[in-house]
Amino acid sequence: MRLARSGDREFDLILWGATGFTGQLVARHLVSHYDRDVLNWAMGGRNEHKLAAVRDSLGAPDLPLVLGDSHDQSAMETMAARTGVVCSTVGPYARYGSPLVAACAAAGTDYCDLTGEAHWIRRMLDGHHQQAVATGARIVPTCGFDSIPSDLGVFFLQREMRSRQGAPARHVKGAVARLKGKASGGTVASMLNLMEEAGADRSVRRILADPYSINPEGQRSGPDGRDSLAPSYDEGFKRWTAPFIMAGINTRVVRRSAALLPDVYGEGFRYQESMLTGRGVGGAVKAYVSAGILAASLGALSIGPIRRLIAPRLPQPGEGPTPQQQENGSWEMRFLADPVLVRVTGDRDPGYGSTSKMLAESAVCLALDPIEAQGGFHTPASAMGPLLIDRLQRNAGLTFSS
Ligand SMILES: NC(=O)c1ccc[n+]([C@@H]2O[C@H](COP(=O)([O-])OP(=O)(O)OC[C@H]3O[C@@H](n4cnc5c(N)ncnc54)[C@H](OP(=O)(O)O)[C@@H]3O)[C@@H](O)[C@H]2O)c1
Repeated sequence: MRLARSGDREFDLILWGATGFTGQLVARHLVSHYDRDVLNWAMGGRNEHKLAAVRDSLGAPDLPLVLGDSHDQSAMETMAARTGVVCSTVGPYARYGSPLVAACAAAGTDYCDLTGEAHWIRRMLDGHHQQAVATGARIVPTCGFDSIPSDLGVFFLQREMRSRQGAPARHVKGAVARLKGKASGGTVASMLNLMEEAGADRSVRRILADPYSINPEGQRSGPDGRDSLAPSYDEGFKRWTAPFIMAGINTRVVRRSAALLPDVYGEGFRYQESMLTGRGVGGAVKAYVSAGILAASLGALSIGPIRRLIAPRLPQPGEGPTPQQQENGSWEMRFLADPVLVRVTGDRDPGYGSTSKMLAESAVCLALDPIEAQGGFHTPASAMGPLLIDRLQRNAGLTFSS
């Protein structure tokens, strides 16, 4: 039973981490798309001066501010009790996110974030899913470029399959066809933190390698094997492919959606994801070079001293692509299950311009839309499915087509 609905709380939505690189972009999106009488929201963070400066820069002097520190459990509980939804951009989530998820699960407060950290999602699932089911809190991680395009792209394809072929596809392949953008300091910090935890703890490595690591308990096996790091020619896409770094989280999220929505995905569902590098010899060379660079980078970053040497040269927290770079960015992903080919595109750089709009619309969808999902840990598809696809196409510059 849900403890309370948004309307019973002081706010519909609190944006937690509004001073960060992505948080400011989310705040800008909310200010430009939603009047306060439509969406009653507040900005949260640990530094009042920084929050006030962001509020000034947005030209929204009446926007309420909520203060607290991510490590302060009672501050997180107080915040979660004041709002229907918390939208968090405070990462690395494995370092800062756990008290807030615990607080939301306990208070029946909906939650969404930008994590791509599968081991942390599993930790939160194990610790708080049952309580979220009991209180009605819908906890929805991975509402950014990882993993909304993959998750909703496959969901969209399965609905197309059902309407055209009468049944969902058993095997779907996803691939990145175009990716123009840069990483921010927050993302670099999340990646380095993940390598750090994986280096120190074998159970983290085991979770990261498990293709069904975030599936519901009792459904953590299936026909898909471990991720391939090898280049290969794909007969369906008729192109060479290289491994895609985000497949490690995207495939897990898609498989969890399949487990949560058996009517949409059917039995024995399989999903893999890669990056298209082109046709002919050029495509093959690019596939081998990309695979080699990825393997070498992961190998180097897994060694502590090398990681510590490289880290200061990478973007630092608070830094990221310029507005011009975000504007000039774009991406396209394709999802194939013969005879249906789905294209999902975004009109900004994937990591920030597009991600901030995806996260903002996910939070608004949780706050305002008549979603039917019950409490518990969700994926974007299982929580919001068609309602979110609709919002993303109207307000976030995404297209879904087949
Ligand atoms: N899924 C995706 O596609 C995607 C894309 C982009 C980013 N991300 C993830 O999103 C997260 C944020 O990235 P970013 O580049 O925006 O990071 P960022 O610029 O470093 O921002 C981090 C935010 O967390 C706040 N914070 C840090 N420690 C805190 C604490 N103890 N209590 C309260 N607030 C605290 C910071 O507050 P101060 O301003 O006061 O320091 C800031 O608002 C990262 O985990 C990143 O991996 C995911």
